Amino acid sequence: MPALPHRRLTERRIVMASHNAGKVRENAALLAEYGIAIVSAKELGLPEPAETETSFLGNATIKALAAARASGLVALADDSGFSVASLNGDPGVYTADWAEQPGGGRDYAQAMARVEALARPQADRTAWFTCALVLAWPDGHVEGFEGKAMGEWVWPPRGEKGFGYDPMFVPAGHAETFAEMDPAVKHAISHRAAAFRMLAEACLEK
Ligand code: IMP
Repeated sequence: MPALPHRRLTERRIVMASHNAGKVRENAALLAEYGIAIVSAKELGLPEPAETETSFLGNATIKALAAARASGLVALADDSGFSVASLNGDPGVYTADWAEQPGGGRDYAQAMARVEALARPQADRTAWFTCALVLAWPDGHVEGFEGKAMGEWVWPPRGEKGFGYDPMFVPAGHAETFAEMDPAVKHAISHRAAAFRMLAEACLEK
């Protein structure tokens, strides 16, 4: 059966279905090159739906569809996470949950320490980030793409740039962690950039 053509994005302003400032910032930078502006779900006061799927693409689809239907705008959702080979891919889709504090809010220093404590006895340091990007239209159409960045986890965490688990991840072929490198370098090699390249190829016009 021939593949269905992708739907092209013609809108110049879309909603980003995320309340995570780091993700909004990185996706806004990627979209700006295509002349597309982002309004965040937080600015529009959109609720955050429960992420009940067990895959990155599944959860990104939930978030994108909820934001598109609530706002009437095309929505972009980013579901991403950090995986450690010796932990069978954990924390994976539960990456944000591992940082959740009992009183609310997220503590990434503590979440990274938890990953390190569990993975420390294992010789295999392989780790990766995954990013699923899903575009959803108010009529329910979705386009989804997934990218990965392979590398190793390191300890102690290093660097002040980036966000989340960046300080404990060194991408393959590099010496600096994602949090030590210039954001432009991270943007060129990250899981988000990989997913975005696929999305751009399929749905965007320069
Ligand atoms: P989500 O909001 O459920 O997709 O949670 C994603 C989790 O993965 C958050 O805890 C983020 O901090 C983490 N994460 C996603 N992308 C990155 C990244 O590029 N660097 C560091 N952490 C990331």
